[in-house]
Amino acid sequence: MTEFVLTTHPGLENLAVEELTARRGQAPTGVQTEPGRARLELPDDERPTLLSLRSIHHVTVGLLRRRLTAPVTLDQIERAVADVEVPGLRTAPSFRVRSVRRGHHTFKSGDIERTAGAVFHIETAVKVDLQRPVITVRVDIDGDVLWVGVLLTDRPLSRRAKVYAQRVGLSADLAFAATHVADLQAPTRILDPFCGSGTLLLEAGVVHPRCELWGSDWVPGAVAGARSNLDAAGFTARSFLREQDALHMADVYPPSSFDSIVSNPPFGVKMGARINFFRFYQRFLSQADQLLKPGGRVALWVHRRGQLASAVAAHGRFEAYRWVTVQTGSARPVLVGLRRR
Ligand SMILES: C[S@@+](CC[C@H](N)C(=O)[O-])C[C@H]1O[C@@H](n2cnc3c(N)ncnc32)[C@H](O)[C@@H]1O
Repeated sequence: MTEFVLTTHPGLENLAVEELTARRGQAPTGVQTEPGRARLELPDDERPTLLSLRSIHHVTVGLLRRRLTAPVTLDQIERAVADVEVPGLRTAPSFRVRSVRRGHHTFKSGDIERTAGAVFHIETAVKVDLQRPVITVRVDIDGDVLWVGVLLTDRPLSRRAKVYAQRVGLSADLAFAATHVADLQAPTRILDPFCGSGTLLLEAGVVHPRCELWGSDWVPGAVAGARSNLDAAGFTARSFLREQDALHMADVYPPSSFDSIVSNPPFGVKMGARINFFRFYQRFLSQADQLLKPGGRVALWVHRRGQLASAVAAHGRFEAYRWVTVQTGSARPVLVGLRRR
């Protein structure tokens, strides 16, 4: 067994473990989660499964986890790192150290990289290459906990290429999380009525390879951008996009047309700034109620949990079955799963 560490948006760790469990048909062993990380054990030959997960940023082979003494100093990090034998490093042509630091410290992540890098270089005489290293060692500090591992991913797995991107676009791992929370078995038709650049439809199209992908937005440029993204993904024949106000979508789609609505409505940037969110969500739920099949699911990323919860309660036709709060920079968006009664 090898210990792996998966990194993701803080709040999405359990969902990442669920995705892995669903992919391999069995839960991994030794699972421990903390904000932004899931540690687990798997047979080493299951690396390809880990590298195909859609809810995570990076995969690291875990080498050391140690609680240091607060206040943490660079000297403590230097001593702890000196105990670590990095597999393959002694014979590698080059390496670098990358660090992510969370918490209050008197040093920056660049200081950790230089300190740990010097330890490994002196020990092995292997060249440091910051641009194209053969091995990347991760040395992270989370409060007073030190993590050391070998990174298996060059770029974040959650950074998936798109032809057209929106300023307020959702990241791909969060879009995947919405399709995961919707928890659909072979759906026929999914709708994103605030589709923007189409990120949610792109994820839904991969997760449900035979499902029709319907999207709309009231900004023509967004619809054109989503079209180019869905075409580039090879989803042309099963994607249907239009300009449409989401609060009047029941005027254009037949009743009970969709298995699910997965979406990321406006949350206060630009046109969302002056919205009364309680009323906005209520109007949205009334539309969704008409368009969904009985038992249909809604998975929504929102920034106003309280107003959405009040709107769901006041509307009465949906039951909230899951809430997932994540940290993205300074924001704490919430993913809610709703079932139409
Ligand atoms: C947060 S963005 C969605 C971003 C999208 N998930 C992506 O990854 O690109 C919200 C989108 O809703 C659209 N929008 C806002 N109000 C709308 C309405 N009443 N009807 C349709 N679209 C609307 C905006 O134009 C914007 O593209």
